[in-house]
Amino acid sequence: MSDLAGRVAVVTGASSGIGAAIARALAKRGVEVHAVGRRAEGLDGLGSGVRPRILDLTDDAAIDTLAEEVMRLDVLVHCAGAISHGPIADAPVENLDRQYRANLRAPYTLTQALLPALCSGKGDVVFVNSSIYGNARAGVGQFAATQYGLAAIADALRDEVNGLGVRVLSVFPGRTATPRQARLHEAEGRPYRPERLLQPEDVAAAVLGALELPRTAEVTDVRIRPFFKW
Ligand SMILES: NC(=O)c1ccc[n+]([C@@H]2O[C@H](COP(=O)([O-])OP(=O)(O)OC[C@H]3O[C@@H](n4cnc5c(N)ncnc54)[C@H](OP(=O)(O)O)[C@@H]3O)[C@@H](O)[C@H]2O)c1
Repeated sequence: MSDLAGRVAVVTGASSGIGAAIARALAKRGVEVHAVGRRAEGLDGLGSGVRPRILDLTDDAAIDTLAEEVMRLDVLVHCAGAISHGPIADAPVENLDRQYRANLRAPYTLTQALLPALCSGKGDVVFVNSSIYGNARAGVGQFAATQYGLAAIADALRDEVNGLGVRVLSVFPGRTATPRQARLHEAEGRPYRPERLLQPEDVAAAVLGALELPRTAEVTDVRIRPFFKW
């Protein structure tokens, strides 16, 4: 097992749900975590060694500032994102733009900005994707398009940086009990039973398991879904 203690990580989406669970799990292992979110209150209480970074990832200048301040980096976890559903016939294009900026463009620009530090540290990049990847269906076209794109970025990046010692992982979780999922259930008019869904800590455990593997191994894709059926 590879020891994570003393490493430095940037985790986006750390103010809620899966990102918060990953930030907490890394901090527990002795990782110094730069925890990125837009809401200060969501970034409190993630553990000692966690440094809140309040910024909007759709703001290029804010990403540049973060990259200037993070001198050393071993792990970059992309977990921030936006979601909205609706049929292509009438889902507003502004919703597509918003999801594109948060789900695809932001991980792209952040990776670009932090790649020099990641390469010199021979680090890891983790893209928290979604089980929607490969499973687009009616009503989810906009969100699915960003997730298919994110998988393409991850696969291309892996091919580009493996030779520089950097590993790249995509994680494809199914429905996970987070504030986002509570909102989706409400919108779908379904009863919300979080205990039957994946837990954010389950996804965090899968990510840490991959990161902790010796560097003779690279986990490229993890599919993880709730054990219970609807
Ligand atoms: N929950 C699920 O069922 C599920 C399933 C598969 C995949 N995923 C993926 O897992 C990731 C996290 O999902 P979640 O359910 O934990 O979501 P969530 O509870 O809604 O949290 C989303 C996070 O993204 C951050 N964020 C969104 N836009 C941002 C921006 N422009 N700049 C900075 N931060 C931004 C939010 O920050 P603020 O709140 O501070 O604004 C928040 O921390 C997403 O990429 C999602 O696609 C989730």
